[in-house]
Amino acid sequence: MRKQIVAGNWKMNKTAEEALILASEVVNMVKDEVNTDVQVIIAPPAIYLSTLQKYTETAPNIGIAAQNCSNKASGAYTGEISASMLKSIGVTHVILGHSERREYFKETNEQLAEKVNIVLENGLTPIFCCGETLELRQGGDFLAFVASQLTDSLFHLSPEDFAKVVIAYEPIWAIGTGLTASSEQAQEMHAYLRGHLATKYGQEAADNTSILYGGSCNEKNAQELFACADVDGGLIGGASLKSREFTNIAKSF
Ligand code: G3P
Repeated sequence: MRKQIVAGNWKMNKTAEEALILASEVVNMVKDEVNTDVQVIIAPPAIYLSTLQKYTETAPNIGIAAQNCSNKASGAYTGEISASMLKSIGVTHVILGHSERREYFKETNEQLAEKVNIVLENGLTPIFCCGETLELRQGGDFLAFVASQLTDSLFHLSPEDFAKVVIAYEPIWAIGTGLTASSEQAQEMHAYLRGHLATKYGQEAADNTSILYGGSCNEKNAQELFACADVDGGLIGGASLKSREFTNIAKSF
């Protein structure tokens, strides 16, 4: 049985005081209201991870994620943060390959394969992001493009390592735009990706892989999206900055 997961990607938002308030509200609401079968993850800016980890460890179904990490183990990489540093402060997950990092920081599939490796080597869970631009969707070969992102960055993994990966499909044209993918569009891509995974790792492994949807997911549309056969939860941006709405999304299964 694959996990139902709702992860909140705070991106570059919140002061230290605001982050403390948001995290404590989310943890308290999730503990009181969300089914413990649902895994809830918060991904604050890296500067807050150590402080907020103490809140998340108070509940068995709440984890804390970094929004990125270096593809290097350690060394002269000014400004970078390593997977081992994240592990040392109790981080459980790492978001990798978010479209904003691919766009603004030119992250390649090859670099992301290295990041997946180092995250797994440190016993953390990669939340691997993929998704197409509006041009690709309008052009028609968006399914194959997104599948190639998985092939290039994940298909080198052993079956044992692949089993630890969470995937997040985020159509770039839906991120931060309020233009959410329809449940039909989300289901089509998720089913296609699951089939693609099965070609490499077999149907059982594919069926056990959590594939999250991200892109203007909110408390109004989450229930319909999460009801799709191949949608196993969400990677939430803007709506994760509001504790009530983010918790409502986590209750939408
Ligand atoms: O990583 C999640 C994010 O890209 C989605 O953003 O604001 O459209 O929910 P948003």
